Amino acid sequence: MRVRGMLIGALALAAGAAAAQVANHDLPVQAIMATAVNPAALAFWAGGNDPPEGETPAQADARWAAAVQGAQTLQVKGRELLQHSRPGRWDEFARMLAEGAVAGEAAARAKDAEKAFEIGGGPIYDACNGCHKTYIPTPTRLP
Ligand code: HEC
Repeated sequence: MRVRGMLIGALALAAGAAAAQVANHDLPVQAIMATAVNPAALAFWAGGNDPPEGETPAQADARWAAAVQGAQTLQVKGRELLQHSRPGRWDEFARMLAEGAVAGEAAARAKDAEKAFEIGGGPIYDACNGCHKTYIPTPTRLP
């Protein structure tokens, strides 16, 4: 259970570090990330997370609806990332995101928290992390 919070914490950290590390920003990709991919992923991950304490059935419905929507956005943006392709594994990670989000949408529609958690921590997380590790340079350490 705790792992879910840690997962998101780790990713937020990676994304924050990612932003700081890029010297010459790819502005269209940066905008896709900041305005669409990141909020959509957070909404989707909230489906696989433990529900907030005291959540009402109506709030749970809203959380799942947002998770479905998040998964749909990740599909659209995963495909959009293909239009910003780079040499190497870029397309593979973009497709991993889009296809993971198709499965994610099904899990969110079924309100299957275990499945949503599995997909959120599997293909979706691996797509974010794989692409960032490959394409966002590590900072040069100053002596
Ligand atoms: C196909 C490659 C790719 C995938 C998949 C990908 N990212 Fe990114 N992401 C990038 C690149 C490249 C940047 C750096 C953009 C720049 O500033 O030049 C970035 C930057 C970011 C940033 C920083 C944006 C800013 O404001 O500077 C966040 C947050 C982010 N990604 C979140 C995510 C999350 C969450 C996922 C997965 C759900 C994800 N990304 C999947 C390539 C990807």
